[in-house]
Amino acid sequence: MGYFDALIDKFADDPALEKAFGKHIHWGYWENPNQATGTLEDFAIAANNLSKLVIEKAQINHGSKILDAGCGFGGTIRLLNESFSDLELVGINIDQVQVQRAKQLIKGINNNCIQFIHGNACNLPQLDHEFDYAIALECIFAFPSRKQFFEQVRKQLSPSGQLIVVDFIINSQINGLWRWLEQEIISRLITDTYGSKATNEVNFITIKEYEAIARQTNFKLSQVIDINKNVQPTYPVVNEIIINNFNDWLTAKGLEYFSLFNLISYQILIFEPTE
Ligand SMILES: C[S@@+](CC[C@H](N)C(=O)[O-])C[C@H]1O[C@@H](n2cnc3c(N)ncnc32)[C@H](O)[C@@H]1O
Repeated sequence: MGYFDALIDKFADDPALEKAFGKHIHWGYWENPNQATGTLEDFAIAANNLSKLVIEKAQINHGSKILDAGCGFGGTIRLLNESFSDLELVGINIDQVQVQRAKQLIKGINNNCIQFIHGNACNLPQLDHEFDYAIALECIFAFPSRKQFFEQVRKQLSPSGQLIVVDFIINSQINGLWRWLEQEIISRLITDTYGSKATNEVNFITIKEYEAIARQTNFKLSQVIDINKNVQPTYPVVNEIIINNFNDWLTAKGLEYFSLFNLISYQILIFEPTE
């Protein structure tokens, strides 16, 4: 059993763990990485700050209609709910347990409407309005197909809307090596470590591959924000939990080293419809 599969079960016994991972299941963002303290409390603030940054970069405002695909425990929806009014918020996640937790914990305030749906982000239900924003925060690598997800979003995104993807991007210089590693080792290790509820298979791609998917699905990549340096303090915190709980040193360290040398970079990508 992997990291995410065991996470909810451990919350009851470990309030600090719940504080760190009970809202967001993504990396932290530190404006000044050398000020990170390495505590779970500091990590929880940084994880929330990553969602804040995404909201800020996308310039989300009151009255927007927002899809959060692969919403996890709904942490980004929670933050939007607390920060803005008159929102239509839809979260979709493939894991029913995470959806249940989000439903229980997050109720609309500020005249916001919130819906959490159990489902596959690559097979979106038809909703009765267009979205202004679709967000996929640290989850698209686990979806069955990025292209299918882009196509699905495109159908329900306003022509002036934005698709915001936060993902680990492969440096094109090591793409060949990465393909081999991913096929032979890494995908299985990450799946084992992070758990089948988080992902069945992972697939990381380059910016060029993202641009090609965007072209094929009538999007253009309009902004790339590289925050790889700002997420680095995540690794010691996450690694310690993984090592303590699951002894999966190799995967955790592997990701950290690739990231340290910018061979995998953590980035925010903003796509806009082209027609
Ligand atoms: C690393 S977590 C990120 C969760 C959330 N976006 C956040 O930032 O807290 C990845 C999430 O993607 C979800 N997921 C994986 N495949 C999915 C799919 N095909 N459709 C919807 N959600 C999916 C997992 O269940 C997990 O909640």
